[in-house]
Amino acid sequence: MWSFGNIKVSGKVVLGPMAGVTTLAYRTFMKRFGVDLLYTEMVSDCGVIYDSRNTRKYLEIGKNEHPIGVQLFGGKTDNLVKAIHKLQMLGIPYDFLDINLGCPMPKVMRNGAGASWLTRPEDLEAMMRQVVNASDKPISAKIRLGSDDKNINVRDVVSRLERAGVSLIAIHTRTTKQIYQGFARHEEIRDLGLKMKVPLVISGDINSIDNAARALDITKATAVMVARGGLGRPRFVAQLHQYFKNGERLPEATLKEQLSYLRQFAKQLVNLKGEEIAMKELRGIGVHFLNGYAGMKPFKTQLIQITTFAEFDLLLKRIRYSMNNKALDNY
Ligand SMILES: Cc1cc2nc3c(=O)[nH]c(=O)nc-3n(C[C@H](O)[C@H](O)[C@H](O)COP(=O)(O)O)c2cc1C
Repeated sequence: MWSFGNIKVSGKVVLGPMAGVTTLAYRTFMKRFGVDLLYTEMVSDCGVIYDSRNTRKYLEIGKNEHPIGVQLFGGKTDNLVKAIHKLQMLGIPYDFLDINLGCPMPKVMRNGAGASWLTRPEDLEAMMRQVVNASDKPISAKIRLGSDDKNINVRDVVSRLERAGVSLIAIHTRTTKQIYQGFARHEEIRDLGLKMKVPLVISGDINSIDNAARALDITKATAVMVARGGLGRPRFVAQLHQYFKNGERLPEATLKEQLSYLRQFAKQLVNLKGEEIAMKELRGIGVHFLNGYAGMKPFKTQLIQITTFAEFDLLLKRIRYSMNNKALDNY
């Protein structure tokens, strides 16, 4: 058990925000495997201020998702503050508010938002002070090492965030220039967690029990953030949960188990979004459930084309049939 602000967190597994992925359905599905802390997909300050229909969808929070943070991005202090007031007025039931200071996408950076703040540390500190003042919930921040290899300013930014009054900091140990490429570089912040006043969540290449344990050991972070490493791998969350609880290593999911997880996820999507949208989202995320299992290539091609749940179910039957035949071949 650890805490930040007034929030108590029961374990070390954090599900990182991923735009287009960590929807209500994805979060709800993953949570029950042992996620301890969640973030929504990011929403823009202006989207919140104008209360756009799309933004409202991103702000949907399920009753079993707590503790959960809404992630906000924006390049102007005034708008961020306005957005916070609006979120409070709307009564969105989030537990903490995360400010995105790490998004490398040009359309975000162009407006001075996301990782663009890392190039203006003084402005960043002043903005975060105002954000902390405006919010009646704890504020967290998600940052990167710095803009590029010549501008690694993570330690300075962490001190500034702490001075501004944030309650939790997540660090993705790539630079903005790296986007999502190359390896995460936890060594750059060796032992930083020991020196920090607020809990540290470590992000970047958390894709195996050993990598997660190593990331905690190197950085002395309090918790790990699962992002791409958990795509289509609910068992990975369960593995981390169990390992941190008592050192036990759960086996990887068998293909049969993966197909059952995939079907559960698809059902959850349909329940929350209706069949049409659900199948669209499944076409994007579903293939991750088949990654790493032999002979799945043709089925993945079919999965990215399905349009109805009945088609999807038929596809699962075909995969099961091919598995049984293989089992007979091997016999
Ligand atoms: C498709 C995708 C979308 C992402 N969206 C967000 C986002 O909205 N906000 C954010 O702070 N980070 C976002 N991230 C970054 C992740 O939360 C995480 O920090 C990063 O992927 C590094 O972890 P990994 O190497 O384990 O994937 C995104 C990453 C991916 C791959």
